[in-house]
Amino acid sequence: MAGDNSEQIRQNMQIPRTNDPSHLLQLLIELQQAHGHIPGDAIDQLAGSLRLSQASILGVIEFYSFLHRTPRGKYDILFSDNITDQMRGSRLLAERLAGKLGIGIGHTRDDRRVTLDYTSCTGMGDQGPAALVNGQAITRLTTERIDQMADLVEQAVRLEHWPAELFQVSEGIERRDILLNSNYKPGAAIRNCLEEGAATVLNQLEQAGLRGCGGAGFSIAKKWQFCASSEAAEHYVVCNADEGEPGTFKDRYLLQTHADRLFEGMTLCAAVIGAHQGFLYLRGEYRYLLEALQRTLQQRREKNLLGQAILGRDGFDFDIDIHLGAGAYICGEESALIESLEGKRGIPRNRPPFPVTQGYLGMPTVVNNVETLANAALITQQGAEWFRSVGTARSPGSKLLSISGDCERPGIYEFPFGTPISQILATCQAHQTQAVQIGGAAGRLIPPAEFSRTLAFEDLATAGSFMIFNQGRELLNAIDNFTRFFRHESCGFCTPCRVGTALLTRQLGKVMVGHATTKDLDQLGTLGRLMRQTSHCGLGQTAANPVLDGLQKFPGIFQSRLRSTSFEPAFDLDASLEEARALTGRTDPGAHLEGGGV
Ligand SMILES: Cc1cc2nc3c(=O)[nH]c(=O)nc-3n(C[C@H](O)[C@H](O)[C@H](O)COP(=O)(O)O)c2cc1C
Ligand code: SF4
Repeated sequence: MAGDNSEQIRQNMQIPRTNDPSHLLQLLIELQQAHGHIPGDAIDQLAGSLRLSQASILGVIEFYSFLHRTPRGKYDILFSDNITDQMRGSRLLAERLAGKLGIGIGHTRDDRRVTLDYTSCTGMGDQGPAALVNGQAITRLTTERIDQMADLVEQAVRLEHWPAELFQVSEGIERRDILLNSNYKPGAAIRNCLEEGAATVLNQLEQAGLRGCGGAGFSIAKKWQFCASSEAAEHYVVCNADEGEPGTFKDRYLLQTHADRLFEGMTLCAAVIGAHQGFLYLRGEYRYLLEALQRTLQQRREKNLLGQAILGRDGFDFDIDIHLGAGAYICGEESALIESLEGKRGIPRNRPPFPVTQGYLGMPTVVNNVETLANAALITQQGAEWFRSVGTARSPGSKLLSISGDCERPGIYEFPFGTPISQILATCQAHQTQAVQIGGAAGRLIPPAEFSRTLAFEDLATAGSFMIFNQGRELLNAIDNFTRFFRHESCGFCTPCRVGTALLTRQLGKVMVGHATTKDLDQLGTLGRLMRQTSHCGLGQTAANPVLDGLQKFPGIFQSRLRSTSFEPAFDLDASLEEARALTGRTDPGAHLEGGGV
């Protein structure tokens, strides 16, 4: 309960005055940033002013990895634990820092000077190993940089006085094609829409054949059309800049270098669907971009490209707020993202209804990926033919890839759809490639026999992650890393995913240490298929992909680890599978749950 002194607490804690519960998450993020944790007094104060129960606020704090009830160190250092960071030695570097600071990983030092831990992929796969210090990205870690960081921490140098080069995130662009080579004219797409009408824009996007770049590949024209035709008091535009899929960082580049295009795409969408408010949902790991993005928004307001009566059109009022995420991969799933925007835990909703009919605050909402929105702005400016000048009939245009792992030139590449994997590997100078993981941890593992396959929705679809493993790598380590990632990121809402990701990790662990038999491998397959068929959302439906692909395409890496002597396992997966079936009451294919909708 908020007591009589709640106003004093609010002022002391610098909690902005608001009684809108949808602001909860953003307020908690600011409190975390200011105090290194969420103080109990602040929770009382928020419960009173937002009229929420303390339990629901505690539930939100517990849900997000970057929010904490207990104080973190003055320097909160999180090492990116993606497989490509590990391949570049991140674990050894983390241990070196731990040794220098006299602290265990996963702990806060007694003097509260520093906390050290791992976090999921921070989106710096092309310039890793990487870490976050109080939310700020540090790239290209080396032993020298680690020693420098240890000295800065011990000398208590304020973060804003740390050498700027530590925080440098380079663009990393390695190949441009039609999209990145084209000149964008601020306001041109919006002006076209105002002059020629929303129907013309929709028709042009339909002709261009632009499909969502966030994974599902749904037609943008159809999505905007559905939303526009939903009658409601309000409509909303949301840009999904959560980019949490391990190995993906192409949206980081767009946000850093082409934010104006993206905001143009959002404003264009607003003009088409009749929205007055838009949101950019920016993953917490990209907080370092926040100020520059705010500046770009302000410049657009000054040019009358945002705000009241945009480009002089009476009644066309639209503006964009930026909301931060707080370390939850599931919030990239569009309905979980909307829950998070409303200030809640990011638990995926039942679909249908889809966001285009009932999204933010129950109103029709378009959720699109950063790249999709930036492309929409360019197509409206350059025309459908221009977009179709590259790509395939079913996948027109080009795609941004985030290439990392074993190649000489990791970075951002724009390739026309239809490009063979072998050509991509040759361009980024990958040698003796054993496998490519396309589409992130949730994607597909591709062996050399399939390198003639192409980048395309009709063949190998990807939201943009392209991780390369050469012949020298233990592929099982990558599969284990992805599987652990899903266990950590499962929101826990449904049993097949919550229990399944834990069982998968445990069973795979048995293979890793050489205790598994062929029966265990069969059980891994059964478990993976069960999760694919019965999980509530895309995370659980794809979490077993690395294991299933590994078993099918690289059986040798499992078989070579099987135990040769007889050994009775203490853990019986068959019984656990039965238990999971009984708990879910579902063994059906669950095709109705599969993604790809709007
Ligand atoms: C677990 C999960 C995570 C996702 N993460 C992202 C993400 O980080 N960025 C994104 O654009 N889409 C992500 N998606 C897809 C979104 O749900 C949604 O399809 C997408 O934002 C729609 O935009 P698009 O049509 O422009 O692709 C994710 C989906 C799932 C199931
Ligand atoms: S599949 Fe996993 S992430 Fe999705 S709702 Fe179920 S528990 Fe949550």
